[in-house]
Amino acid sequence: MSTTVTERPDSARPHGATPMLEVKELVVRYGRGRKAAAAPAAVDHVSFSIAPGETVGLVGESGSGKSTIGKAILGLQKVSGGSISYQGRDITSAGAGQRRALGGELRAVFQDPNSSLNPRNTVGTSLAEPLWLRGVSGAEARAKAEDMLERVGLPREAVDRYPSQFSGGQRQRISVARALICDPQLVVCDEAVSALDLSTQAQVLNLLADLRDERGLSYLFIAHDIAVVQFLAQRVVVLYRGEVMESGPAAAVTENPKHPFTQALVAASPVPRPAEQAARREARESLGVRTGAAAVPGPGGCPFRLRCPLATELCATERPALRRVGTADVACHYA
Ligand SMILES: Nc1ncnc2c1ncn2[C@@H]1O[C@H](COP(=O)(O)OP(=O)(O)OP(=O)(O)O)[C@@H](O)[C@H]1O
Ligand code: SF4
Ligand SMILES: [Mg+2]
Repeated sequence: MSTTVTERPDSARPHGATPMLEVKELVVRYGRGRKAAAAPAAVDHVSFSIAPGETVGLVGESGSGKSTIGKAILGLQKVSGGSISYQGRDITSAGAGQRRALGGELRAVFQDPNSSLNPRNTVGTSLAEPLWLRGVSGAEARAKAEDMLERVGLPREAVDRYPSQFSGGQRQRISVARALICDPQLVVCDEAVSALDLSTQAQVLNLLADLRDERGLSYLFIAHDIAVVQFLAQRVVVLYRGEVMESGPAAAVTENPKHPFTQALVAASPVPRPAEQAARREARESLGVRTGAAAVPGPGGCPFRLRCPLATELCATERPALRRVGTADVACHYA
């Protein structure tokens, strides 16, 4: 059954404008041939879109399919079903050539800066590489790299240093600089701040927000912590076992969640204030949501039923479709 997210009237998208990104009924199964056909889908009929200048947050527990969606969009993972369009162009099965033609328009920032920064290269080389690929000359690329470093809060001299000579937060700033140096329009941030301490996390989030506002960027912002997503996203999509459980305006989903899983996710989100943290722990316990991501539901029914305190027989037999509740779309029979 489909878990389509219907488009929101309160979306940031101007009426009729082509979305920056449109993901429709996306299915991803790992493995090859018969093995893949028999495997449970890591991403199961997920649909959402991102308007120009909009940030959509993708949130869920470990293994819920967030990175798989990001990789499918970036062309790093084969798609089993559905479609992905970038500015109206179908890129679902785009080959290397078509991806190259997109140039630097679609970029990524990952949790581990080492995945985009070669430790043997100077920061200047890592930043200039995407520009060289686009035919920018050495001197011009170096000047752009220095400007970009300055923009992310690092000294221009950082071009001649190596990634190991920087802190984790500074390395993540360099990754952001590398992602943005070709003036992309859409950036996939996959757990981009998850490895950072709280204050460095806040600095990098502020930097991402400033750059977005300056350049009119769109982000797909992936994180397991809903509080982090809430800071940046205008809309939030909540995933559980590869399916959309709830989606809608960030304020509605994070402050007044309707789905039992989203409620548990919000209650589990860490906050730096002890009193609030204690209140959240109490709220979490009173929800009665069972832990145990290993609980594997059989086919059919609600994927969350083995952990849900509200589950009934109906939940075991009938898969809840997404339906509008207030301003959000929620996949729960009892929301
Ligand atoms: N290369 C792979 N081969 C087989 N299965 C995979 C592969 N990568 C991911 N999976 C499976 O697909 C599902 C979704 O994984 P994914 O990495 O997308 O989750 P995630 O939401 O990003 O988790 P995390 O928060 O831990 O990063 C998981 O069940 C995972 O085990
Ligand atoms: S459909 Fe049933 S099991 Fe699923 S979240 Fe709602 S109440 Fe819980
Ligand atoms: Mg991941």
